[in-house]
Amino acid sequence: MASRIQAIRGMHDVLPPESGLWQYLEDRVRGVLQSYGYAQIRMPIVEITELFKRSIGEVTDIVEKEMYTFEDRNGDSLTLRPEGTASCVRAGIEHGFLHNQSVRLWYQGPMFRHERPQKGRYRQFHQIGVETFGMRGPDIDLEVILLTRGIWQALGLEGLTLQLNTLGTPDERAAYREHLVAYLQDHAQSLDEDSRRRLEGNPLRVLDSKNSEMQQVIADAPSLMQFLGEESRRHFATVCSGLDDCGVAYVVNPRLVRGLDYYTLTVFEWVTDQLGAQGTVCAGGRYDGLVEQLGGRPTPAVGFALGVERVVTLLRDSAVEQELDPLHAYLVVAGDAAVRPALLLAERLRDRVPGLRLLTHCGGGGLKSQFKKADRSGAICALVVGEDELASGRIGVKALRRESAQQNLSEDELVAFLQRQIVTRGEGVG
Ligand code: HAM
Repeated sequence: MASRIQAIRGMHDVLPPESGLWQYLEDRVRGVLQSYGYAQIRMPIVEITELFKRSIGEVTDIVEKEMYTFEDRNGDSLTLRPEGTASCVRAGIEHGFLHNQSVRLWYQGPMFRHERPQKGRYRQFHQIGVETFGMRGPDIDLEVILLTRGIWQALGLEGLTLQLNTLGTPDERAAYREHLVAYLQDHAQSLDEDSRRRLEGNPLRVLDSKNSEMQQVIADAPSLMQFLGEESRRHFATVCSGLDDCGVAYVVNPRLVRGLDYYTLTVFEWVTDQLGAQGTVCAGGRYDGLVEQLGGRPTPAVGFALGVERVVTLLRDSAVEQELDPLHAYLVVAGDAAVRPALLLAERLRDRVPGLRLLTHCGGGGLKSQFKKADRSGAICALVVGEDELASGRIGVKALRRESAQQNLSEDELVAFLQRQIVTRGEGVG
């Protein structure tokens, strides 16, 4: 027997009914994004490798060891995008829609990182992200965080914690960095190998280490807060007081540094303890330097991305009753003579009843087995078209989710009946 080909490790198929949960999430999130006036952007999945090196940072885990990079047939170095921010900025500069404008965009799609797969961590995963451009004040930081809260509310998710920090300006961070490096060098014997390596290139990331033996050194390290200037402090204080006014609870976490280099000032993460080690479901912040760094004119920016797989897991485990969309009807076709009329009826019904989800039985088989399939399909009712129905011009309707006798309806009556099902979500069947 030929060997079986399987999906690549860390890359997953999304099968029904789980895909219904994905759609539910995507629909709800899209609704929130639209209510805040955000417009969708769709970007390519593959970009020139240089884009990610210059934005995410050469000395980050992502660029150092997680990118899917390959040479295409022309010898260009290309990379499967590990995130969406860099592409969005590239698109903004390329199409000239960033300069002197306020822009609010969102995107969704697969991202690729060659990480060690585990629960909540995949090599192909999906994000829904938001990027805003051209707004310098803290009001947009606040809006973006409120939007994320709106998403949890729309999904009925509770128990997420908002962690907040500020990374200051590049100058402030440079001053801090010097002190931090000096401190860490003094404690080099307490650092693990990874952190000693990071000391040179990316010392702030040492603070993010999960190594339990290093937690004391990290706790005693100087804090960036002490190096912030007046303006950065005010920016952060305004975001915090805005959250207070809007009733959003948060925890200031001075150790929140993020794994991508482009952030300035506000950074935030929404975390949960329900997902084990991979507890961050959504993360983002301000990145005022990135547009210029990638060759555009200086443009302030704020954004975030949520991890779809992680949020889907929370939804699956939550007690919230998701309104996944069931089929309204399963059309049972009794006998060969009914096949074509049934098909035509189904086409007419879909035209006449907007929103109708109707599955027509295909592939033959007896009534009993068709009804079994109808039942398994989750449909609210079965419609029956056979010789009798063709002769009488009436269609059989049988409720599948409760006991009741079959009714025989004219096509117009059936249309009215199905319209009622859509409004009442099946409550009216019987
Ligand atoms: P990030 O923190 O790298 O930020 O990723 C955002 C979210 O994507 C994470 O919080 C997590 O939920 C999800 N995620 C990341 N890696 C994986 C993985 N291997 N498997 C499953 N889920 C994962 C960014 O990507 C930034 N571009 C966010 C941003 C947008 N900042 C400003 N604008």
